[in-house]
Amino acid sequence: MGAHAPLGARVGAALLALLAAACGDTDPRPSITGFSEAQVRRALRMSPLPPAPADPTNAVADDSRAVALGERLFRDPRLSRDGDTSCASCHDLALGLGDGLARGRGEVPLARHTSSLWNLAGQRWFFWDGRADSLWAQACGVLESPLEMATTRTDLLHLVAGDPALRAPFEALFGALPAEVGAERFPRAARPVPPHDPALVDAAEHAREATGHQHLSADGGFIHPHQRAWDRMAPEDQEVATAALVGVAKALAAYERTLRSETAPLDRFVEAVRTGDPSGGGALPEGAVRGLNLFTGEARCHLCHSGPLLSDLEFHDLGLEPAPGFENDPGRHEGLDLLRVAEFRGDGAWSDDPEAGAARLAHLPEHGHGQREFRTPSLREVATHPPYMHTGALASLEEVVAFYSRGIGRRERPAPAERVIEPLHLTPAQEADLVLFLRCLTSSAAPPTLSAR
Ligand code: HEC
Ligand code: HEC
Repeated sequence: MGAHAPLGARVGAALLALLAAACGDTDPRPSITGFSEAQVRRALRMSPLPPAPADPTNAVADDSRAVALGERLFRDPRLSRDGDTSCASCHDLALGLGDGLARGRGEVPLARHTSSLWNLAGQRWFFWDGRADSLWAQACGVLESPLEMATTRTDLLHLVAGDPALRAPFEALFGALPAEVGAERFPRAARPVPPHDPALVDAAEHAREATGHQHLSADGGFIHPHQRAWDRMAPEDQEVATAALVGVAKALAAYERTLRSETAPLDRFVEAVRTGDPSGGGALPEGAVRGLNLFTGEARCHLCHSGPLLSDLEFHDLGLEPAPGFENDPGRHEGLDLLRVAEFRGDGAWSDDPEAGAARLAHLPEHGHGQREFRTPSLREVATHPPYMHTGALASLEEVVAFYSRGIGRRERPAPAERVIEPLHLTPAQEADLVLFLRCLTSSAAPPTLSAR
């Protein structure tokens, strides 16, 4: 406080200092009425949400031109093979950036629930099973997955090169495209088809049925038409097509990085606590304060849902009932194997900083780990995107809490060796408090890139 501060302010400050000294509290540590010190520390770590960490593997991650191009692409159904599905078809803002369904609906019913895209930039691994190590690698996967967008890199090249509204911003970010993108040099529907590709597995199945060669190898000795078209291309043209896919994916990733929560009631509560108000300034209703107490204490949710995203960014098996038809979803176990052989990784040829990418990939668990484990989702904005879990089987936050409390939705008999969490047996009032707390993690306003709409 400067010497020129008004007299009232100076007297006020002196009074406050006197009061603090009188209470023997010269170094007031934040406290919350009814919380232990450890619980207060856990609550303080939940807020504020820091800016998205940098992604050096994507040079345009924070380029506003890439954000604008990515936003346009996110809503463009021409990114899908059938021309009627965009990213926004399944990741709809009105449905919390999810689709509101139990499990995704692509070309066929998908194995898992559609993830919400809120605050993803802070995650380490992407997809429920963590099979991608960056947002742009994730997007490369969705675009060419025969189950989702089902497009190919040559089709994307034709799209971007043929539409001036896409071509100009794309070239400004990623360099010139060939003047002519003819179907001779760049056949449509061409891409490398990896051995684990669902289209290949299906097609081999058909080939086996058609030829009666039941003992054909896993790929049936069958070359997928996309691969055949790809093999006809010159290596330098293959590079151009792959660069188109990666450019589209990096712009999409730049846009996704802006899908970031604003202030939620929890943030206002923590801010008030930090500035010395043990009641949290009334930012949370009383029931939600009790819910936070449980969350950081007796119910031990903080063991996995910690920090500003309320996620440890890691993988766990909670003992959930698997989705019908997908009883053997191996989760992280398969995610690790797919990540190991992925064409697009932070340490690969298409990364803008392979060294930084390699650091993230340095300590992957050995093959065999992670059976039935799925990534802990962030709980920010959780109330906006029911249903829940990778199975989408829990319809509401009440059902999620009933799962943790009473084991409703748990697998019949988790084997004794399986480390799954045990039901907490909370009272109905405690369950209601936890639900109320989860509802206070929704921000008051949509980010500026979204609110304009
Ligand atoms: C047909 C519906 C569908 C479409 C279209 C779709 N997605 Fe998804 N998305 C899903 C499903 C289902 C998952 C979860 C899959 C999994 O984890 O195995 C998912 C997961 C994701 C994730 C991972 C989220 C996380 O928490 O790790 C991102 C990022 C994503 N999608 C972005 C996109 C982008 C970008 C597009 C457009 C190129 C897109 N999606 C198109 C259904 C869809
Ligand atoms: C052992 C780690 C762990 C603990 C402890 C834990 N969670 Fe979770 N939580 C997870 C994982 C992992 C998932 C995703 C599981 C899946 O889909 O297979 C999840 C999912 C959720 C979801 C659904 C989010 C979504 O987007 O689908 C909510 C809500 C949730 N947890 C709340 C809680 C609450 C409340 C507690 C305390 C009662 C708690 N969790 C305790 C790891 C944990």
